[in-house]
Amino acid sequence: MLTHSFKWLLLGALAAQHSVAEPLFRQQNPDITVNSFNTAQEAAVLQATTDLLAAESLVASCSSCISLLKVVKNLAIISESLFLSTLISVCKRSGFDPIVCEGTIREQGPVLRHVLRTINVSGKDGHILCAATIDSCPYPVVDQWNLTFPSPKPANAQPPAPSGQEITVLHLSDWHVDPFYEMGAEAACDKPICCRPEFTNYENITQPASIWGAYTCDTPITLLESMLEYIPSVTDKYAFAILTGDVPPHEVWSTLPYNKTQGIETLSYDLLHAHFDTPGLIDAKLYPVVGNHEAAPTNLFPHNVSQIPKGDDKQFLNLTWLYETMSESWSGWLETEATFELVHNSGSYVAYPTDGLVIIGLNTMFCYTLNWWNMESGGEKDPNGIFQWMIHHLQMAEDEGKRVWIIGHIAPGDNTCLHDYSNYYYQIVERYAPHVIAGQFFGHTHRDELEIFYENAKQKAGKAISTAYLAPSMTPFSMMNPGFRVYKIDAVTFEVMDSLTYVADLDQVDDWEETGPNWHLEYSAREAYSSSEASLGPKEPLSPAWWHNVTKSFEESDSMFEKYYNFRSKSSPDLPECDQACRTNLICGIRAGKSELRCDYQRDDMNQTSEVSLFSQRQRNPEKFAYMKDLCSGMDH
Ligand SMILES: *[C@@H]1O[C@H](CO)[C@@H](O)[C@H](O)[C@H]1NC(C)=O
Ligand SMILES: *[C@@H]1O[C@H](CO)[C@@H](O)[C@H](O)[C@H]1NC(C)=O
Ligand SMILES: *[C@@H]1O[C@H](CO)[C@@H](O)[C@H](O)[C@H]1NC(C)=O
Ligand SMILES: *[C@@H]1O[C@H](CO)[C@@H](O)[C@H](O)[C@H]1NC(C)=O
Ligand SMILES: *[C@@H]1O[C@H](CO)[C@@H](O)[C@H](O)[C@H]1NC(C)=O
Ligand SMILES: *[C@@H]1O[C@H](CO)[C@@H](O)[C@H](O)[C@H]1NC(C)=O
Ligand SMILES: *[C@@H]1O[C@H](CO)[C@@H](O)[C@H](O)[C@H]1NC(C)=O
Ligand SMILES: *[C@@H]1O[C@H](CO)[C@@H](O)[C@H](O)[C@H]1NC(C)=O
Repeated sequence: MLTHSFKWLLLGALAAQHSVAEPLFRQQNPDITVNSFNTAQEAAVLQATTDLLAAESLVASCSSCISLLKVVKNLAIISESLFLSTLISVCKRSGFDPIVCEGTIREQGPVLRHVLRTINVSGKDGHILCAATIDSCPYPVVDQWNLTFPSPKPANAQPPAPSGQEITVLHLSDWHVDPFYEMGAEAACDKPICCRPEFTNYENITQPASIWGAYTCDTPITLLESMLEYIPSVTDKYAFAILTGDVPPHEVWSTLPYNKTQGIETLSYDLLHAHFDTPGLIDAKLYPVVGNHEAAPTNLFPHNVSQIPKGDDKQFLNLTWLYETMSESWSGWLETEATFELVHNSGSYVAYPTDGLVIIGLNTMFCYTLNWWNMESGGEKDPNGIFQWMIHHLQMAEDEGKRVWIIGHIAPGDNTCLHDYSNYYYQIVERYAPHVIAGQFFGHTHRDELEIFYENAKQKAGKAISTAYLAPSMTPFSMMNPGFRVYKIDAVTFEVMDSLTYVADLDQVDDWEETGPNWHLEYSAREAYSSSEASLGPKEPLSPAWWHNVTKSFEESDSMFEKYYNFRSKSSPDLPECDQACRTNLICGIRAGKSELRCDYQRDDMNQTSEVSLFSQRQRNPEKFAYMKDLCSGMDH
């Protein structure tokens, strides 16, 4: 399953890497006939793809990746149909699933082709593509840029003292509902997601899908409803709730026509309204954000300067339909002003859920490595002015003495967030935390994770200024128990006092016949992670400094780390071993509020020293391949 999804995602990523400003191939080769041209190009793309897949060392893989980009870029200059048909053919001949090849390339190809034509393959653009999407080149260093702020950071900025009163907030993420899920269908199929009639040979079913879900499939409605019914039993009252993106399924090869994806979104939000707007049920306002899967085709969120390919049949790529659909689906929860704002602000909005708290609902897709629009020309440092917009609202909150929560889909320290964007975002956090930003909340990885931000990126308890919580996914895809999160929040400071994670053990599905899913508290972060090294007084919040000390306990104590490692995957069965290198890597990731501080990629700045341990001179070894699989299956979370 993992291998399979790795393969088709790699494929999608490969197909996407294109560029280099070279003279038009056609002009150079005016006498080539279309047929021989077609065959020759296909052979060239196939050869380059084979070389890349076979590359053993990072050096070989980087040069193979750049070569592939060159041949594919040449192809992009000819007609769109030739471009698509060649890539589809090579995809199939490389052993990928034919339906997935065909669909993914038809959907992603036109934007890919367009973007490819604008970028310099052998320059920084090409290297970023190869580094960011499949980790096959050293990652180019960040283009240094200092954001400007309306006022300097106040001296000795400190968060306010806790009030002792608490409210409860619900955090849902990564639903990935599959309306085509069918009980009894094949759960061990050869497509990226299973449990669908179309991928089932009813003559010979090896693993029938249960009524509640399967580890190889997206979420059936039954599982969603059981969770929504269980949620009110956790507490008397929710002050409000957040949903950090990704409602549609992982069917990335078939998201079009866009009204198919739109229909799934509308139906899902209708279901959510039924539960969130009804006294006796959840009965609270829900603040959602868009994830990479909200778009159709998946991941492709254009910038306001993006050149949408011409043709009436391509105008939906501007995503106006998506922002308008969200505006409608989220009304009743968001103020009218916010529903209007998100349409004109590429999906981002502000909301005021309760006195003293501002929510910045951020569309994080301008940082995503697989949003090809981010690669186009590569010049903008603040796409659509979203950083300036954030700064404006954070400054207002500072001036008015309010606290801010930032909610989004992809966390800035994630390995799928572009380093440059992440660096600029981190500067904003450094300016407005800890006194204004009281919390950050994301999803996307499907795992239960966190990221810590520091003043001047100094990874010490005394310098820790903000924590981002990555909530577990609802979907069991892939190989993970479904889950959700509940926070105990100080009613005045809006700091997190406790983080409670709930899961259902899908491996026990055979015992659920009479009882339904066994939703239960998996752990309280306050209880699980308090230790002599990281201790908390009864009134103290889970501060960034405390979390930093928790990561130190992960370094020093096997049992503390194992606890984290198990919770990170929601206590799912069959976790792979995590050896010392893996452990170092995961702890490094927690302390990396910006993606350039991570330890799981190859840097281009070998001579610069950093506080984080580097896996620098590393060649492409089995560990790295294991990591790549994780990255690639994670890529499309
Ligand atoms: C592309 O990048 C390479 C390497 O940085 C550079 O030498 C070349 O001039 C660039 N080409 C264009 C057209 O900018
Ligand atoms: C950004 O600010 C830092 C510290 O103030 C300064 O050292 C650096 O030169 C500035 N960088 C740029 C590109 O302006
Ligand atoms: C059923 O499917 C399995 C796995 O795909 C295969 O190994 C087996 O030979 C099949 N059996 C029959 C009777 O087709
Ligand atoms: C999408 O739109 C097309 C053309 O307008 C229509 O034929 C089709 O039924 C729609 N599909 C859905 C799922 O709404
Ligand atoms: C986006 O495309 C739609 C058609 O799908 C069109 O009506 C709309 O004007 C376009 N919006 C922008 C901002 O270009
Ligand atoms: C795109 O957004 C930027 C930043 O807000 C703005 O300066 C620019 O005018 C916008 N461009 C278009 C074409 O809307
Ligand atoms: C973190 O650890 C340091 C060093 O042991 C200690 O001084 C500090 O009080 C701890 N802070 C928290 C919040 O646990
Ligand atoms: C990096 O280090 C190597 C060897 O230590 C040296 O030859 C090279 O010039 C350095 N590069 C830069 C950009 O400082």
